[in-house]
Amino acid sequence: MKTLDATYWENRYQKKETGWDLKSISPPLQQIIDHLAHTQPTQKDLKILIPGAGMGYEVLYLFEKGYTNVYVVDLAPSPLESIAQACPNFPKNQLICGDFFDVELSDFDLVLEQTFFCALHPELREAYAQKMHGILKKGGTLQGLLFQFPLTDQGPPFGGSLEEYLDLFEPYFKILFIETAQNSIKPRANKELFFIFENK
Ligand SMILES: C[S@@+](CC[C@H](N)C(=O)[O-])C[C@H]1O[C@@H](n2cnc3c(N)ncnc32)[C@H](O)[C@@H]1O
Repeated sequence: MKTLDATYWENRYQKKETGWDLKSISPPLQQIIDHLAHTQPTQKDLKILIPGAGMGYEVLYLFEKGYTNVYVVDLAPSPLESIAQACPNFPKNQLICGDFFDVELSDFDLVLEQTFFCALHPELREAYAQKMHGILKKGGTLQGLLFQFPLTDQGPPFGGSLEEYLDLFEPYFKILFIETAQNSIKPRANKELFFIFENK
């Protein structure tokens, strides 16, 4: 089993072995952000977290739309440096280099998930659900994408299923929506579940 630590992830960036990197915002996450901007146009101070954001196309998109209370936590320094370079006005103290499970985070309105959960060793799934529950305000939401393909030890990415995700998240979250995403990029078509979970 690989050790999925900071060295592992930084090496992947250094060697450009970043098959997950879409080079632009993914349509489902853009949809979440556009919906937010449309339904709550005045709430630009929402506290938003993107853990394991990689090159952070969603982070940049949020910032362009006027959301300034956006935080990123990533184990690898390279992608954080890229975000800082791409957006020099982005507050540096909101680009946190560290382990999601160790960094103290609280009072978030929204956490966006995309290929972070699947990058973690499956043994950490319960800890992920608990940590997200602790990070979000009551009524805050965890939204994004979870892969739906069989879980094996060949990862990352590690897969999972609707049933597994319901078992994992239902103790902490009200499941508002979870269905196969309709606007995945082609290589991920039918392999992603689009979800909205509300913190209990
Ligand atoms: C597969 S990449 C996905 C990047 C991005 N979400 C995307 O869709 O392009 C996983 C990211 O999570 C980061 N990561 C992995 N484990 C982490 C942890 N425990 N805490 C914080 N970041 C982590 C990695 O450094 C990497 O940037």
